[in-house]
Amino acid sequence: MFSTTRKIGILGGGQLGKMLCLSAANWDFKTYILDPTPGCPASQVCTGFTQGNFNDYHDVLEFGRDKDIITIEIEHVNTDALRELERMGKTVHPAPAALDIIKDKGTQKEFYRQNDIPTAPFELFEDEKALLQAVSEGRWKLPFVQKTRTAGYDGKGVALMRTPADLEKKLLSGPCLTEELADIQTEIAVIAAQNEDGSVAVFPAVEMDFHPEANLVEFLLCPARISPLQEAEAQALAERVIRSLGCCGLLAVEMFLTKSGEIWVNESAPRPHNSGHHTIDSAITSQFQQHIRAVTNLPLGSGNQVAGAAVMLNLLGEEGHKGPVVYLGAEECLAMEGVYIHLYGKAMTSPFRKMGHVTITAADAESAIRKADFVKKQLKVVSTEV
Ligand SMILES: Nc1ncnc2c1ncn2[C@@H]1O[C@H](COP(=O)(O)OP(=O)(O)OP(=O)(O)O)[C@@H](O)[C@H]1O
Ligand SMILES: [Mg+2]
Repeated sequence: MFSTTRKIGILGGGQLGKMLCLSAANWDFKTYILDPTPGCPASQVCTGFTQGNFNDYHDVLEFGRDKDIITIEIEHVNTDALRELERMGKTVHPAPAALDIIKDKGTQKEFYRQNDIPTAPFELFEDEKALLQAVSEGRWKLPFVQKTRTAGYDGKGVALMRTPADLEKKLLSGPCLTEELADIQTEIAVIAAQNEDGSVAVFPAVEMDFHPEANLVEFLLCPARISPLQEAEAQALAERVIRSLGCCGLLAVEMFLTKSGEIWVNESAPRPHNSGHHTIDSAITSQFQQHIRAVTNLPLGSGNQVAGAAVMLNLLGEEGHKGPVVYLGAEECLAMEGVYIHLYGKAMTSPFRKMGHVTITAADAESAIRKADFVKKQLKVVSTEV
């Protein structure tokens, strides 16, 4: 029976929450958002908004009481409250246990090791002093990567240590881990989905290129320019990770394709992901609809592309601009075929803030990239108050 009367509660009201609500609304599902910020992107399109802290036990419990299904758009939420909601008979996806593993990059890496999932060799440290000790003892040699165990996002909890000076300037404090530096040929991501019946579907791999300063994905290409064998391997790996974690909903698996042809899992996110935004415009099923299908235990859709190639550009706030946002050059871009602009509804821009994204579709990668270069030059996120 296909019933759309179930109330879906979403922890977090950013752009991912907004796009989940929009997708759920197509099937008349009612969506409810818990977020500290009134006026957040999702609050503008959901059925009901509750102001509150998704990290607070009572806020999450109270929010979930009258919902049927509870899901997330951010992994840093209170999992004790989610467990309590499960005990009360609510459907909670992803599983709180999987969230606990993922929230902490240390336990996440240990999980990969325990499950024979290839990942960069690593070691956990109590704090940065213990790490420096390991360096002075010669157990860790430069270069390597240091990551904080919790609360890192958009590259903020990641420091690449190349020189002794980096160790002084960039060292991150608190519980952390070190990782061997991957010799990266291409960064790729595969989004998998699982429903309660145990069906798994995977999207094609995407290729990610990073903004050198902001450490944000600024350019993404689907299909990735990798061999069919590597594509199959990456998809199989994403399926293994979601099955091992046993969580329902989406799981975005970021991977490194190394120069020697190995694929290592970097990290996973149990929710819609930046690397799946293009699917709204270029795939048979969007990642957002897939998440709704998965958490409501409907048949999963095909993630195959309808367009020959798709490029996704994040619309980041221009450097030097902070204040009320305006978008320059949108008309020129919208006049082109296969250009889809998505704005998140954030009133204020600041340097490198994710304000929206654009999907560009074309028959092949080359033409999609050419069009994307034009869009990137034309479309600027600036402020009226410089
Ligand atoms: N072991 C590694 N070897 C080489 N580069 C790495 C390694 N780990 C991380 N990086 C680089 O740093 C980037 C950010 O790392 P990671 O994905 O772990 O951090 P994050 O803050 O969770 O990222 P985001 O929120 O942007 O996904 C990676 O995409 C990659 O470019
Ligand atoms: Mg990452």
